[in-house]
Amino acid sequence: MKGSFNMTQDELKTLVGRAALRYVEPGCIVGVGTGSTVNKFIEALSAMKGQIAGAVSSSLASTERLRAAGIEVLDAAAVDELALYVDGADEIDHAGYMIKGGGAALTREKIVAAQSRRFICIADESKLVKVLGKFPIPVEVIPMAGRRIAKQFAAIGGVAALRMQGGEPLLTDNGQHILDVTGLKIADPLGFESAVNQWPGVVTVGVFAHQKAQMCLLGTGSGVKVLSF
Ligand code: 5RP
Repeated sequence: MKGSFNMTQDELKTLVGRAALRYVEPGCIVGVGTGSTVNKFIEALSAMKGQIAGAVSSSLASTERLRAAGIEVLDAAAVDELALYVDGADEIDHAGYMIKGGGAALTREKIVAAQSRRFICIADESKLVKVLGKFPIPVEVIPMAGRRIAKQFAAIGGVAALRMQGGEPLLTDNGQHILDVTGLKIADPLGFESAVNQWPGVVTVGVFAHQKAQMCLLGTGSGVKVLSF
């Protein structure tokens, strides 16, 4: 697919993946997200592998890629605090609030984001929105609670669909299910995240408001636009 100014979405992802490198301090441990944009960052980061102390990963998929790139992956539980977390988003608004979890890694992504002082979101310009909610909101749930949580979403106007893979419910890295919720506009991301996270059986809602980005490197046809929040 071609983006504006004839750059493909893939080229825009490469652009921002590379641009994030300039925020990686030598000697640091980098928090690494998940997804096709982050894969470009991992590719770029491999050139710095001798200069960083390693990475904390947000998914089994990213762990595999980091190791293949020769970057040591450290256990999140063994690391106190990270200076930087780099991750993509399914949607990001003008305050740095995001929808994430299109790659089913939202829970670990939020954990690593919470452990990090700074969240830099890397995204192509198609991800920038005024109001979150066009992209189906991923919600990781304990399977026995899925039906009831779907009813709770219906009560506020949402439609929850169980994410499937190969004819079976998709299992996350944590062995749980994902509901994808459509039909909601998120006018109050902080309030929405807090409320849904209280529902019994919700592991994580894919609205990242309490763990928002402080910066977004947005890939546009005329280059990387830096948004600070
Ligand atoms: C994975 C995520 C990703 O960051 C999000 O889905 C964006 O992915 P991509 O860079 O492939 O568009 O939240 O759980």
